[in-house]
Amino acid sequence: MNEQQNLAGDGTVVQSGQIQVSALSKSFGIGPLRQQVIENCSFTLERGKLTVLIGPSGCGKTTLINLLAGYETPDSGTITVDNVPIKGPNKDRLVVFQETALFPWMTTFQNVVYGPKVRGEKDKRELEDEAMHLLHKVGLAEFRDKYPIQLSGGMQRRCELVRALINRPKIMMMDEPFRGLDAMTRELMQEYYVRLFEENHLTNLFITSELEEAIFLADRLIILSSRPASARTVMEIDLPRPREFKILVTKEYLHYKQQALEILHEEAMKAFSSGCGTAVADFLEAYSEVKPK
Ligand SMILES: Nc1ncnc2c1ncn2[C@@H]1O[C@H](COP(=O)(O)OP(=O)(O)O)[C@@H](O)[C@H]1O
Ligand SMILES: [Mg+2]
Repeated sequence: MNEQQNLAGDGTVVQSGQIQVSALSKSFGIGPLRQQVIENCSFTLERGKLTVLIGPSGCGKTTLINLLAGYETPDSGTITVDNVPIKGPNKDRLVVFQETALFPWMTTFQNVVYGPKVRGEKDKRELEDEAMHLLHKVGLAEFRDKYPIQLSGGMQRRCELVRALINRPKIMMMDEPFRGLDAMTRELMQEYYVRLFEENHLTNLFITSELEEAIFLADRLIILSSRPASARTVMEIDLPRPREFKILVTKEYLHYKQQALEILHEEAMKAFSSGCGTAVADFLEAYSEVKPK
């Protein structure tokens, strides 16, 4: 197996991609209402690694993922996948958003097989086996014939994860996918997600504003500056895999957390002094030690 190839859950080989973001800038609006959201932002999503992007609410994370997915075009700068510039959306780069996007009139199973089925890519049996393998992995095998409304929020999110994965993207992108779930469900989701990643080793980009979640999941942590967003710091998170929640009490974890907090705090102070009065309050809300999990 060369470094570009990974095994899917069923043992078949999946190509994994590398994204290069160079000097990316994006603004919205015109004239005095123009707002620079991303400015001169450069980073790499390394092949087969789980990169987490963290930054406070409103700093431009979703804008960045929309650019990477090809839903938006940059004002300047380039995005390449395996050295080829992107030209709009492609099933090589799939995004799971925080809002549910399941078809309400389809069952779990029908939702999952929908993409490959309409493209007529696989034979029926093969597709069914793969869908059931993945549903089993996320604890949804028994819910294959339920409709989204019959699933809990966490189950819906797991179903979406599987629905994206079955398309074998080169790059999986997740935009705060577990936001809004209760603390217990969120932990469970992190565990399912990290196990899937450790099995597939697809290139993953995971966006969050939760520091603990970020460090728990990441191979690499990119901290965004306050708006206009750019990649302020990249931290290599050298914690053992498979990841277990017990790492959250190790001194290595606490060291990463301390380093990241200092940078995030600096960014909040910068935003505050440049006129964004809510920046420090946002920072405290997002990263305060006393915040209930
Ligand atoms: N399509 C758009 N048109 C105008 N402004 C936008 C658009 N999308 C995002 N923005 C602005 O860009 C800023 C960053 O938004 P977003 O990327 O959603 O932040 P985050 O995901 O980090 O919370 C916000 O101030 C938002 O109002
Ligand atoms: Mg967002």
